[in-house]
Amino acid sequence: MEAISIGLFGLGTVGTGVVRIIESHQDKLMHQVGCPVVIKKILVKDVAKPRSVDLDQDLLTTNPEEILYDPEIDVVIEVMGGVAETKDLLLKALKEGKHIVTANKDLMALHGSELLTAASENGCDLFYEASVAGGIPILRGLADGLASDRITKMMGIVNGTTNYILTKMNTEGRAYLEVLKEAQELGFAEADPTADVEGLDAARKMAILATLGFSMKIDLDDVGVSGISQITEEDLRYGRQLGYTMKLIGYAHREGEKVEVSVQPTFLPDTHPLASVQNEYNAVYVYGEAVGETMFYGPGAGSLPTATAVVSDLVGIMKNLRLGVNGRSAVTPQFPKHLKDPSERFAKYFIRLHVQDEVGVFADITAVFAEFGVSFEKILQLPVKKNEVAEIVLVTHHASLTNYEHILQHLNDMQAVKQIKSSYRVEGNSL
Ligand code: NAP
Ligand code: HSE
Repeated sequence: MEAISIGLFGLGTVGTGVVRIIESHQDKLMHQVGCPVVIKKILVKDVAKPRSVDLDQDLLTTNPEEILYDPEIDVVIEVMGGVAETKDLLLKALKEGKHIVTANKDLMALHGSELLTAASENGCDLFYEASVAGGIPILRGLADGLASDRITKMMGIVNGTTNYILTKMNTEGRAYLEVLKEAQELGFAEADPTADVEGLDAARKMAILATLGFSMKIDLDDVGVSGISQITEEDLRYGRQLGYTMKLIGYAHREGEKVEVSVQPTFLPDTHPLASVQNEYNAVYVYGEAVGETMFYGPGAGSLPTATAVVSDLVGIMKNLRLGVNGRSAVTPQFPKHLKDPSERFAKYFIRLHVQDEVGVFADITAVFAEFGVSFEKILQLPVKKNEVAEIVLVTHHASLTNYEHILQHLNDMQAVKQIKSSYRVEGNSL
């Protein structure tokens, strides 16, 4: 077989890793797919920029047409990011019959189904393993390894930046902004880290995961999102006192035909397997009706881990080329979308209140919870603070989201409640 020619879109953190892996794993690639892999052209913004890999300067271009309309290029690897412009480029590449590998979760969460449809219409493969949890083969795990099962629950730490920040805040008592800066320097964070810390990056990944895992088209707007920027050292400290670790958890749950998908800071018992996932590492816990509990763990970001997933997708394309079956592996969602109502979404909650330090206030507060049939699993009564204000931390048993929101509203309206300082979801010990 002739060499496979690649057009690379992007030569940043991931693109550089792709070049390194293709160069250093050439023997293995030859063995797996039976031909050499050659990078023919690389699209960048600035050809004069210094690069951390040695390569022929003539490979670089700022003109995508040199890749799109080069008939010798078989595969486009897109690791440049962006949405609208990138989507147009990939649609053009598909029209030209080029197979695609992308690491772009923003693009796949928003336009994945359109791109996958275009790929199969053009007899092309489009693989996107690196878009979720970097180096962890979670999409293949769901699409192939667990293809025979019915997935009912997925819980994931799918953003390396926020896991890094929470780990350092929790274990070293360091300040949020200081650790965020470190995560940016280490190359985990997005160019604009707002998407990381406000949960949007994780939400994009959960939309992709839930679509694949539940075989239902879950849009980004279906994912309820809250991030970590408001979490304080005090919250983490109270969590530790109660035996909890805080993580930004992507949660996807199917009951019957209905699903819920969210991303939110969540207290996990210290003994929960996800609680021990540290630093930039990611993990996805998957529950299948037949298989039971499984967990996928590994580096969720970074140059070589992410590039490994990208190049493995390339190997998948090349194997399909040999078999002549490109464009046939995408499976369209089987089920219509049904989202749970708030009254069907149950969770435990941690709530921290500042209240007037007076006789009867605690009884009034418990009465509000009782009115909505919600009882407590844990209560922490803290020493009186300044200005006759006391702090109370409560952990509820399961409550529906509807009832919990009513409770928050009632507490807000009570004169004795000075402030609801924080409120977080709490997960149980197992799936
Ligand atoms: P990056 O370091 O910012 O690199 C982006 C590359 O694309 C640069 O080489 C840049 O050119 C080029 N580029 C960007 N816009 C371009 C345009 N309009 N025209 C031509 N070239 C353009 O990004 P990255 O961290 O490698 O991430 C790439 C993709 O992988 C993103 O979709 C990201 O979400 C995804 N991803 C990243 C990671 C990670 O750990 N970093 C993990 C999983 C997925 P110049 O070099 O000339 O500026
Ligand atoms: N910014 C992302 C993260 C990169 O921190 O997980 C990997 O998608």
